Amino acid sequence: MQVAPVIPVLVIEKPEDAVPLATALVEGGLRVLEITLRSDAALSAIESMAKALPDAIVGAGTVNHPEQMQQVKNAGAQFVVSPGFTKSLGQAATECSMPYLPGVMTPAEILDANQSGLDALKFFPASQAGGPAFIKALAGPFQNIVFCPTGGINADSAPDYLGLANVLCVGGSWIAPKDAVKAGNWQQITTLATTACGLR
Ligand code: 3PG
Repeated sequence: MQVAPVIPVLVIEKPEDAVPLATALVEGGLRVLEITLRSDAALSAIESMAKALPDAIVGAGTVNHPEQMQQVKNAGAQFVVSPGFTKSLGQAATECSMPYLPGVMTPAEILDANQSGLDALKFFPASQAGGPAFIKALAGPFQNIVFCPTGGINADSAPDYLGLANVLCVGGSWIAPKDAVKAGNWQQITTLATTACGLR
């Protein structure tokens, strides 16, 4: 969470897009990448990105089932993100020794994740759930918790989150627009990444 101000949230439909997309993002300075398990190509994309770009920190997102923890680890994922937290996901991450960033949206969910040993959490869906003002309010009762807000964030709104003391980075898909990936417009993605990299 401290490597770069933005973690790109990626949906990779075509396996052959994986390495050029990751290369474009790393060239722009974003080397922490979240590949969501929302496409058939996700696991092979994680594998090829991790192999081709040793400087990248490749993780898996949308890990909604405990058994996926070992699968993504086998593919080369170095961290795991889920939209919400459950004890069984937390336990699977511990068993796999996998750094785990689960989503939370309420104080009770924060308490639950924290009582399972986690103090760095995704706040999701950030803009819909209350935005920067909500996260700022969490700093009072949760002084030792840091967040990666994700959901509805873009280059314009990211600075409002990154300016908060309890936000280490944000996540978002705006860095890799579907159209740009489809067109193989890697230069556009590097430009978006370079801009994102300068946001903090
Ligand atoms: C996620 O999976 O974390 C979100 O879908 C990303 O949100 P965004 O597409 O609004 O950036």
